[in-house]
Amino acid sequence: MLVVEGLTCRFGTKAAVDDASFSISPGGFVGVIGRSGAGKSTLLRMINRLAEPSEGRILFDGLDVTALRGKQLRQWRARSAMIFQQFNLVGRLDVLTNVLMGRLAEIPSWRSLTQLWPDEEKALAMSALEQFDMASLAAQRADQLSGGQQQRVAIARALVQEPDIILADEPIASLDPRNTRIVMDALLRINKHFGITVICNLHSLDLARTYCDRLIGMASGRVVFDGAPAMLTDHIARELYDLEANEVMGTAPTHASADSTIPAFGTAAAA
Ligand SMILES: Nc1ncnc2c1ncn2[C@@H]1O[C@H](COP(=O)(O)OP(=O)(O)OP(=O)(O)O)[C@@H](O)[C@H]1O
Ligand SMILES: [Mg+2]
Repeated sequence: MLVVEGLTCRFGTKAAVDDASFSISPGGFVGVIGRSGAGKSTLLRMINRLAEPSEGRILFDGLDVTALRGKQLRQWRARSAMIFQQFNLVGRLDVLTNVLMGRLAEIPSWRSLTQLWPDEEKALAMSALEQFDMASLAAQRADQLSGGQQQRVAIARALVQEPDIILADEPIASLDPRNTRIVMDALLRINKHFGITVICNLHSLDLARTYCDRLIGMASGRVVFDGAPAMLTDHIARELYDLEANEVMGTAPTHASADSTIPAFGTAAAA
């Protein structure tokens, strides 16, 4: 269970996140919504400890995440994998090596420096790529892939970290509608098939309603809505988004699928 208590992040006198409190049970798919500047990215970055909280606490299964330093902090960052809008792959490296980067916390550094990855690590990375239909592109340079393919590699890299939580900060913001659906389905699969909690910042309310089982609405740094998508009335949505409301309440893909017929992660390539 992730517990956020009175979490605040100030930049100068301005509170980017202001006294946020909520708990997230394991296995949820939570959408964080709100207009630009509402504090969504800052909230996710604090949970991963990329941004320092000014006040408040983050607890995970009783562990005080806010107090972690050094090696324990690095371990927490591996357990709470971030996915970014701009994918953050190493473009000149091949796809498989990019996925293996997700294993850095688990293997001795000399191995990563010499690129002598153990076979079982490679098998794990291939298995993760297979989950998202990307195994055939393992040897390609990452910068030769489409945006949707790059984001699936980033999701595979997050998966091999074997995280408890995936924190996705507008993962589809630079993708077309088709790739948006492929990437959101990949996140849904991670959530439903592997039981990994997903917290996903989304600008599109329609997507948030389609994919998430809970929405946290932010405005001016504060949590102003927390509940099931069905509880978010158009009236509340308009308050949340103000002038942007018409833009974000457009049409999104109507179907969300979590295919459970594909073999479990880690078993396919290793077998
Ligand atoms: N490093 C920083 N230094 C100063 N101010 C910041 C910093 N990061 C964020 N802010 C401010 O904090 C507020 C919240 O920003 P944040 O990026 O969390 O919003 P957001 O909801 O993710 O917006 P968007 O939808 O545009 O991504 C904004 O007013 C922003 O300008
Ligand atoms: Mg943001």
